[in-house]
Amino acid sequence: MDKIIHRPRTISGRVNMPGDKSIAHRAVMLGGISRGQGLINNFPASADCLSTVACLASLGVRIDRIDGTTLRIHGGGLRSLKPPPAPLNAGNSGTTLRLLSGLLAGQTFAVTLTGDDSLRRRPMRRIIEPLRAMGAEISGSDGGRFAPLHIQGGRLRPIDHTLPVASAQLKSALLLAGLYADGRTTVRSPVPCRDHTERMLIHRGADLNVSGDVITIEGGGELAADDIAVPGDLSSAAYFIMAAILVLGSRLRIDGVGLNPTRTGLLKVLDDMGAEISLSGERLVCNEPVADLSVRSSELSAIEISGPIIPSLIDELPVLAVAATQARGTTVVRNAAELRVKESDRIAAMAGELQKMGARIEVTGDGWIIEGPTPLSGALVDSHGDHRVAMALTVAALVAEGETCIRNAESVEVSFPGFWELLNTVGRFS
Ligand code: S3P
Repeated sequence: MDKIIHRPRTISGRVNMPGDKSIAHRAVMLGGISRGQGLINNFPASADCLSTVACLASLGVRIDRIDGTTLRIHGGGLRSLKPPPAPLNAGNSGTTLRLLSGLLAGQTFAVTLTGDDSLRRRPMRRIIEPLRAMGAEISGSDGGRFAPLHIQGGRLRPIDHTLPVASAQLKSALLLAGLYADGRTTVRSPVPCRDHTERMLIHRGADLNVSGDVITIEGGGELAADDIAVPGDLSSAAYFIMAAILVLGSRLRIDGVGLNPTRTGLLKVLDDMGAEISLSGERLVCNEPVADLSVRSSELSAIEISGPIIPSLIDELPVLAVAATQARGTTVVRNAAELRVKESDRIAAMAGELQKMGARIEVTGDGWIIEGPTPLSGALVDSHGDHRVAMALTVAALVAEGETCIRNAESVEVSFPGFWELLNTVGRFS
């Protein structure tokens, strides 16, 4: 699908975001292995989250759709999953495939896990090696580098593992496998990364401890079912926040956004760049911090983005690159090599597409050097089949002179169905 975008006069109004994708995946998986029924409210109907629902349903979990954003999960306990009738398909979703690998390593049956072309090109050795060390038999294509993965679960032994990359998907997979291990599993995360799994496991009564960068979990303990209200997704809000900052004369309020401190690097960086964003109504919902955001258009200054903050804004870097084209000075992004193994090579994709719009952006091994402010012009650009590239390019199009056409724009469905419609409710086009 091609999407044509013009520059609006302003971005203004009040909106809610779909539920947080990372939390929703975990709510379905943990709901399926908890004991009893639980509701999930504000569940996002994104393709990625629906992949997780379909996989859990294939594993024998009863999931009722109450309405468009509410599910009821009937959990049967840690040992209740059943062999699926066919290979499990995670679609485009790395979180589904990697977290399920950990969960399935502890089952007594064999499963094949696969995904779309993009997911079958993403690195899996980081998951396979520690799960094998726990005792699971796992193989993958090309000598264990990629999905499809064949997992023969069984009795697991605990391990003490230091994450080689700050990946919450890997950390979570090991914690889920740790639920099934005979004893105490230790995962060390030298750089902090999103901790939704830990928060949700603690909330459900798991014997999990976090001490600095060391997480331990005791295997064998059953989890209690619970109702969950999924906070609005900050990663989805990022496109609206940035549109309001960059389009002159804008004022936007976004209610009920999840502000887990392992996810808020974007807000810290924007504050350092001079953006006007204020928070109100700070609250804790199901062990996750939530607040309402008010954003005004602001002049931005360039900064360097590198080091331990990177995992807390990894998914927001494509749209931050757009912001950097409009910031005064040279923005340098470093230590973000993980962007190369996301749904697309986001370093190459964003640089190539923004250059077509006139941006001065140079690729380095692990990031970009971006000069601003540079006027952007509408162009024919491509999402590379990547939802975050499509939405970041939309923000670029909102500040560009003339018309932009985004090819393969349907990829937004992966995390944000209704994105264009919601944008139209706040974009004032004259
Ligand atoms: C996610 C973790 C991150 C992030 C992804 C969602 C999660 O991936 O980029 O969009 O829900 O755990 P990595 O674990 O590969 O860093």
